[in-house]
Amino acid sequence: MAADARVLGWLTRALQHEFSAVQQYLAQSVLARLSGQPQLAEELHGEALHELEHAQRLMQRLIELGVAPSAGALAPARLGRGVGDFATLNRQLEQTAVVLYQDAADHARRVRDTASEALLRELAHDEAQHYRAWSQHPGPDGS
Ligand SMILES: [Fe+2]
Ligand SMILES: [Fe+2]
Repeated sequence: MAADARVLGWLTRALQHEFSAVQQYLAQSVLARLSGQPQLAEELHGEALHELEHAQRLMQRLIELGVAPSAGALAPARLGRGVGDFATLNRQLEQTAVVLYQDAADHARRVRDTASEALLRELAHDEAQHYRAWSQHPGPDGS
């Protein structure tokens, strides 16, 4: 079956999101370490690796559909005024991801691309968990 052009567009947009998320979490990890918060730095590094795994899964689907992945320009990493802003910024990042994956999965369903839809729904589920985790994240002072 020929790949649906808009499914390819959604998968590429998702890939761009994931690499932007990797960049944001890694940059925040560096800043947390420089700010003397090694535990938070470690946690953020782990988040970056989760998002990298998402990028890899999207790449696999693009390659299965016969397309060489190209994420394009990344969004700048958001650092705010420092570690105190990370939970808010990352909640926004993950909320954006949830909406993106829901819209992408809905489109894949409309064109009956069940494998892409399944992947996109799984990623939507993961991002919703990330969103909840940042919603419950304690502030830098443990509050
Ligand atoms: Fe992700
Ligand atoms: Fe995420």
